[in-house]
Order: sequence, then C-alpha cells, then structure tokens
Amino acid sequence: MNKMEFEIEPVWQSRFQKTFLAGTGREEALHFCSIKVDSVPDTLESEGISLCKHWLEQDDFPRDGILLLHLERKRKEFWNTNQVCVYHQLYEFETKNTDQWIRGCTWKGESETSEWISLIESVDSKPLECIAKHFGAAIVSPDEPLRLEELKIPKPWGHEGWYTGVEKRGVASVFDHFGCTELPYALGLFPEQLLNGHDKKLILLKTLNPLSEAVMGDLYLEMHEKKREVYVVTALDPEAWPSGTGRILAGLNSKVKDRYHVRFGASWREPLLLDFQEQIQEYEITRRKMDQLLDQLKEQLGISGEEEITPQQLADLENKLPQELRKEEALLREKAYSFIGSVPVKVGDVVTFPAMQIHSLQHGIRVIEFQTPHYERLIVMFAQKVLTQDHWDTERAIRLLNTEPYQLPEPVSLIKENGFIEERIVDFPDFTVERIQMVKTISKEFCCEGNYHLLICVSGVAHLESESGKINELLPGPAFLLAAGTRFYRISNKVSETLIFLRAVPVKNTMGAQD
Ligand SMILES: [Fe+2]
Repeated sequence: MNKMEFEIEPVWQSRFQKTFLAGTGREEALHFCSIKVDSVPDTLESEGISLCKHWLEQDDFPRDGILLLHLERKRKEFWNTNQVCVYHQLYEFETKNTDQWIRGCTWKGESETSEWISLIESVDSKPLECIAKHFGAAIVSPDEPLRLEELKIPKPWGHEGWYTGVEKRGVASVFDHFGCTELPYALGLFPEQLLNGHDKKLILLKTLNPLSEAVMGDLYLEMHEKKREVYVVTALDPEAWPSGTGRILAGLNSKVKDRYHVRFGASWREPLLLDFQEQIQEYEITRRKMDQLLDQLKEQLGISGEEEITPQQLADLENKLPQELRKEEALLREKAYSFIGSVPVKVGDVVTFPAMQIHSLQHGIRVIEFQTPHYERLIVMFAQKVLTQDHWDTERAIRLLNTEPYQLPEPVSLIKENGFIEERIVDFPDFTVERIQMVKTISKEFCCEGNYHLLICVSGVAHLESESGKINELLPGPAFLLAAGTRFYRISNKVSETLIFLRAVPVKNTMGAQD
C-alpha cells in the first residue's frame, strides 16, 4: 500500500454513493459519489483527481455511464488573511473515456448535497453543466483554455485591470457561459495538470489605464527591489499625446548626469543622488501641506482623509487651494522630475523595467503589463496623496537605484518567416514574454512543453483552437490560460489584416516542473 492509498482509503470509506439508472428519459446511468474532506491543507492538493483515480481502481467500479465525484472541502485563503473557507468540487468523467474527458466546477460556501442533488435527478444529460449553472460557476477542464476577464481595480490615477491578480483588493476569476470562479479555486480543481509544479501565484497580467489628464493621470514614481515588469503599449490618448508618441519616465536624466559628470568627474553619483533626494524631500513638504488642506476640505464634505474620491472631485478640491501653494507645488515637482529621464513610446512598443530601475507610467498611455507576482515597491514620489502607505521610500530607493541611463530594450527575433513574426520581448529569470504577429490566413500550432501559457491579444482577432477542436475567439479584452499539460493549441488569423498577441510563459522551476 503506497502513501497516497493510505491517506485516501479512510476518506474514501466515508463516502455517500448513489446511482441513477438509465431509462425514463436518462440516456446513461449516472453514478454519484460524495465525500467530505475535513483536513485544511496549506498547499493545493489534487485529492479530487486522486479520488477519481481511486474510484476507477475499485472492483465495483461502474462500467457504464457518467461519473460525478463531489468533494466538500476547506481551504485557507492566502489572499484573505488565511481565512478558512468551505467549498465544493464536482468532477465529471465518462467511464468509456476516463483519460480524456474530465472536467469540473467548484463553488464556495455551505450547501447541503441534499439541496442540489435533486437537480441532477431531473436532468437527462450533462449533470455537471446543470450544477455549474445553478451555482454560477465556470466549468474548468485541463484540456480547454481558461478565459480570464479583466477585473477593474480603481486607482487614484485611473484604474488597473487584473487578469491573474489574487489579493485582498481583488481576486481574478475564470469565466464561461455557465458562470465565473475565482482563479485560486479554478486552479485548485486540477493543480497538477494546469500548473505542473509552477507557483500557484501566476505571472501577474494586468492592464494599466491612466487618466488622460497630466499629473492626475501620472503614476507613482516608483522602484522595485525584486519585481520585474514589462509594459506593452496598447493605446495613447490623442488629446494627451496628439503626435502619437508618448513618454514614460524611466531612469536618471542623462543630461543631468552629464552635467554632474563635468562638474564632479568620476565621483558624480553621490552629489547627483543627494541633490535629487533633497529636491524630492523639498517637494514632499509642500505635497503634504497640500494634502492636509485637501483632507480638511474633504472633511467639510463629510469624506474621511483616507477615502478615495473621483479624479474630478480631487480636481475641484485642488482648485480651492491657495494659488501660491499650487504654483509652488508645480514648480518643485518640475524640479524633482528634471532629474528623471524619459523614453518615447508608440502603440505596440515594449518597455521593460528590471529591478532597481525607477519608472513612472504617464497619463493617457494604456499598457498591458506582465510582472512577477510580488507586491513590493518603493515609492520615490507621487504628485497626489499616497493612500496605501503613510510614507515615501525616497531615501532607500535613491540609495539602491540603477544609475545607468535607461534604454528601451530591443526585442529578440525568434522566428521570422512568411507573414509570421515571433519575438522575445522579455527574458526575465522567472518568465519570458513573446510578441507574435501573424498576417491574414496564417495559422500556427504552439506547444506548451510542461509550462502554462498566458495569452492576450493586442490587436486583431484570431481563432484559438484547443486540442479537442473547440474554438475560442482571441481578441483584445479577455486573456486565456492554457494548462501546462496542454500538448498543443492552434492560433489562426482568418479575418484581421495583422494579428498581434502576447504570450507569457513561466521559466521551469526546480520544484517539480517536468516535461
Ligand atoms: Fe512598477
């Protein structure tokens, strides 16, 4: 008896089992098995699959019809201060095709089996779909792409759209026409097939959508110590950037650097960084004065200082501040910003930020962003009140920042053949991102090779065909997660002049990712 059987057997013995025979409107027999699992594992355990396999190995395993395995379980929500949550998993597979056809759905909360089993009794086929619809849950299969819709997270400078983010502030979900399921629960149905040992925190995929107004739509000037980021520009607001070229702040201003070099020779770094820091600190004093006055004005309106207000409300309040103070703020902000470099960007351009690189996305520039899944940043300065922390990290950031002038990366060409271009736009230690362009009529097969793929379209429309032949539309908007166990999938451009999509792939880790 191996370890798995030893653990599973007592759980299996506690099952409740029922068979609904074929006939009287039912085409196939339906074998239902329900088990309550009491343990609360810290990791994603695929007990569901193990129990399905265990059922298959039983001597009295039914040789006909559809099998439904239900588990009532508990898990700690790592994104929700480890709160323990009761949830259900329902797996469906066919006896004649047990290797190929397995899918499931999952839903949260207390629900007695007796409350919903009657629904299965009354349907003549596809019981899983009936239950998924009833609980508003998506159906997840490791053989089909998982559709991820954008979750809008408001920000003082605009909004973020999350596809894979799982935090207290918001949890991304998998969608289909039966319903939606929070991503950690969807992954928990088939963790091995979907992730193959990769971190359950997926590569972070999101959009950043700053307001079109200057200053208000500018993001924090920030730096990360570990996190690596890549932006792909998807749109430039024509009012903000009428020339069609925007500018993103990144790195030190090379002209300022040259000036200090002329004045201080090889030891230019220290005086430059000191002046930069002092300039920001001077700005911070004025910024805080403004924020205090703004808080008082908010209070008069019955809004607390920490409460978020709309950009229009903020603009209206700022207009009420003393003119002198506003002029001073603008002047000091400009002085501090003069130390920072900028890079020109057009739609389709790629901007990457390795760790220790200061940066700030600017108003009216919308991007798709991929990053490592760590919430970690140093706020160097911000032209608004920071609501997420009560201090800036200027001193530490300036001590650590990379003083080499920032340069836009050159994509590395991987394949260039008739109407098909594949370029690697980022090659970070934990993930890579490729930009793929296909002209009309091109159709191409891709292999996952044991790693999950995240796909998102920048422009055009394509057919995403799974191994089973099912087709999803790949167009700007939703993203797709292809399971690590996917052998191949096909993307065809049938209608657009040019299709551009991005693919992020985690680098194989040493903790169990296999071919
Ligand atoms: Fe960043």
